Amino acid sequence: MGGSNDHIWWKHGVIYQIYPRSFYDTNGDGVGDIPGITAKLDYLSWLGVDAVWLSPVNTSPMLDFGYDIADYRGIDPIFGSNEDFDVLIREAHVRGIKIVMDLVINHTSHLHPWFIESRSSRGNPKRDWYIWRDGRKGGPPNNWRAVFGGRSWEWDGATEQYYHHSFLKEQPDLNWRNPELREAVFGEVRYWLDRGVDGFRLDAVVWFVKDERFRDNPPGWGPNAPRPYDLQNHVYDQNRPEVHGVLREFRTVLDEYDGRMAVGETYTESPGDPVQSARYLGDGTDELHLAFDFSLIFSKYGAARFRECLSNWYAAVPDEGWSCLVMGNHDQPRMASRWCRGRDGMMKAKALAALLLAARGTPFLYYGDEIGMMNGRIGRRQMRDPLGLKYWPFHPGRDRERTPMQWSDGPHAGFSPAEPWLPVTDNYREVNVEAQIKDPDSLLNFYRALISLRKERPALRSGSLKLHGSDPEVLSFSREEGGERIFVAINFSGAAYYLPLPESVEGRIVFSTEPSPLISSAGKCLDLPPYGAAIFS
Ligand code: GLC
Ligand code: CA
Repeated sequence: MGGSNDHIWWKHGVIYQIYPRSFYDTNGDGVGDIPGITAKLDYLSWLGVDAVWLSPVNTSPMLDFGYDIADYRGIDPIFGSNEDFDVLIREAHVRGIKIVMDLVINHTSHLHPWFIESRSSRGNPKRDWYIWRDGRKGGPPNNWRAVFGGRSWEWDGATEQYYHHSFLKEQPDLNWRNPELREAVFGEVRYWLDRGVDGFRLDAVVWFVKDERFRDNPPGWGPNAPRPYDLQNHVYDQNRPEVHGVLREFRTVLDEYDGRMAVGETYTESPGDPVQSARYLGDGTDELHLAFDFSLIFSKYGAARFRECLSNWYAAVPDEGWSCLVMGNHDQPRMASRWCRGRDGMMKAKALAALLLAARGTPFLYYGDEIGMMNGRIGRRQMRDPLGLKYWPFHPGRDRERTPMQWSDGPHAGFSPAEPWLPVTDNYREVNVEAQIKDPDSLLNFYRALISLRKERPALRSGSLKLHGSDPEVLSFSREEGGERIFVAINFSGAAYYLPLPESVEGRIVFSTEPSPLISSAGKCLDLPPYGAAIFS
């Protein structure tokens, strides 16, 4: 499958995240499914994506919509069967598309048989596969809190101890210090590798290992304070040094197979912490292949801020490692809603696409961002996300960035013949795939053209990157690989901009936004329209 550069698909390719519940429904129950993903592979292949990462599709009571797994080897019936998944892998591979699964192994569902055994008695052989502690002075073992609200300790009356959960109480944390547990999880990982899965996105990596002594977190003031979780500094329940040992072991399992990849949800709170995220790449060869830096997601729109994000991120990634770039996911408000509101929205979105696809690092696209999907408007009564249900109205929940894919202007945006599990966003009549395929100036066709340019130009795919200048409005950089040199300029302001071209830039424009930027007759000044971008080769 694929060409000779197959083993580095995750460096050179474009990876597309699908939230399966919301991609495409084939059996009319209002929920997206695996046959729905298979049915849309031709679309993904037309767009030019090289791999898809699926949010979890394993058996789950869905209290956190699949991020609470009750059987790692099963596919949840709402999404289809294991056979459907095999078909997806096969059909994807035929088209040269890799399949990346979400691996949720910080915790399981409370309904996972391991947890049912673990909680059955203090002497159970799987007791230590989860984190059980005695209370302290009639209360929980320490002051740790759960991301989704309340204490991270749940009292279990049957065996009179507390168990730890970083998220919901129905998501008990696994004990990664236990060697048997590690082997058991790696067994589940091998099961999918043997079935042909090309990689994993590791959920919640920073939470994997907790302080050995369970010390209290010191007080803090996080970005979402006064949410109680943010009133402490998470030094003892996140980013513990021992997690790197776990990841090195995990890497040796992956390396038993050819060309497999792991990308980590190396989450850091706003404004992001690239140095912390990059630690999970180890020396660049021995832990994760890729790690997400959240700085761009949390950034304000603008050349100066984007330049700072890129330069910090590239500086943090080890020399032998590789960077990836991400602007949205299923936990964050839509990029179009964060950055591209108003009349110039589509132009602003094109400038972002140029950054994502022309800068150095594997681009990750979140489904629907290629057509500029916006946050849905989800009323309190339509809300499904446990985070929103707990923190409303302080946190609006994550449903708004998980609304059904807008395929057409037909009923339910062509997502399903039935009422979808979350309401379709109202703008689907204008913003949809069908309309944008037909429109040569659409955001979708812009993404497609850029993806295709990346494939043709090694310098864009894998070349070095040098940031130029310090213009507050224009981001410019050059890429180089072998003999090929590329210069990229992106105007992140609403005003036209005359950019003096660096001496070294010769060549011609191979890609640009409309209307085309002009090079002044003197030859050395580029006239960039508002939110315009130009790529020289
Ligand atoms: C990660 C996921 C998020 C999930 C949480 C718990 O942050 O991206 O969607 O709720 O982990 O698994
Ligand atoms: Ca369905």
